Amino acid sequence: MNDLAGRHIVLGLSGGIACYKAAELCRALIKQGATVQVVMTEAAEQFMTPVTMQALSNRTVYTSQWDSREPNNMPHINLSREADCILIAPCSADFMAKLLHGRADDLLSLMCLARPIDTVPLLLAPAMNREMWAHPATQRNMMQLTADGAHILGVGSGFQACGETGDGRMLEPNELLEDIVAFFQPKRLQGKRVLITAGPTFEAIDPVRGITNLSSGKMGFAIARAAREAGAVVTLVAGPVSLATPRGVTRVDVKSAQQMHDATLPLSQSADIFVATAAVADWRPANASDQKIKKDGSGKTPQLEFTENPDILAAIAQSPRAQSGALYCVGFAAESHDLLANAQAKRVRKGVPLLVGNIGPATFGADDNALLLVDAKGAVEMPRASKVDLARQLVTEISSRL
Ligand code: C5P
Repeated sequence: MNDLAGRHIVLGLSGGIACYKAAELCRALIKQGATVQVVMTEAAEQFMTPVTMQALSNRTVYTSQWDSREPNNMPHINLSREADCILIAPCSADFMAKLLHGRADDLLSLMCLARPIDTVPLLLAPAMNREMWAHPATQRNMMQLTADGAHILGVGSGFQACGETGDGRMLEPNELLEDIVAFFQPKRLQGKRVLITAGPTFEAIDPVRGITNLSSGKMGFAIARAAREAGAVVTLVAGPVSLATPRGVTRVDVKSAQQMHDATLPLSQSADIFVATAAVADWRPANASDQKIKKDGSGKTPQLEFTENPDILAAIAQSPRAQSGALYCVGFAAESHDLLANAQAKRVRKGVPLLVGNIGPATFGADDNALLLVDAKGAVEMPRASKVDLARQLVTEISSRL
């Protein structure tokens, strides 16, 4: 993946034990195609050597506003003018207080103050003890910094280096990376509420057996991620899958089609967009047994009867909000052949404005896919690409149809 290709990030480290995570973050940013210029405060150098950060970023590190390597002796100007963003990770309580007052007595704070405020965003990843984080002074500073245009990336919660447990840890490098990639995505769905179903469902036969569909959930999770990157408020109703929840997405876990139906219908009442990617089982055993069905040695097999599951997409597409246009519904179709004809027929049968077809067996479990978008006007092909890339393209297509 090259999610940060062409981006130049100034990574600032202020003093805190979370500096050790900045090394991993630097690597992760570079792996995604960014160039990284590291700037460290004197306190940060107590926790991490510039040598380490130089080796990882492949650039000499700046630590002083008196750095004579710059011909004009103005690293604070030169470094900030080149940046697509300045990311302070870790951002200590003290550094937040400094930024708030516009202090500029070291290179990093001087550079933040000197940055062109309209074109170089400032992202902060706070890191501190839980009492320091909860202190009214820090909370006040955070609100004022937000009002001044900084983007606070939030904090993690858990065991802290001081031995206490609570809020204030720096987010993990992979979480920060996801937030930074999201930050640079166009906000095509800003403020929209997006509801997504994903994964298979599991229909119990007895307490130890059941039937299910082949679905990894990867496409639906990628759409949840892309919608959140585009600024939407996202709820993901997920069948049994072991995928990590995308950053900033609210996840509701369900097992059966009936549970998915019962969780999704009320949520659809307050959504603007519904995307049904789940591979919902069409039928469930009519009389699931409370106890494990045992072999009795006679060679007789159990006779299963099935009941049809509710069609979640069709039900929501028929709801008054969808019919009035307040809720935009998108269906998926996993076919094995005749994709265009099957997708067109399914779009009409489900009563949705947009249906996305894919060849099921070619995509189950894979990280890439190819899509065919079918609406009233015709069909658009999305050639094979990663599911995340396709999800971003789909978000663009949906936003242009709203
Ligand atoms: O009819 P079929 O299962 O092929 O339709 C696929 C589309 O309908 C997908 O968007 C899927 O999530 C949705 N669906 C549903 N509830 C069902 C069956 C399918 O929401 N019971």
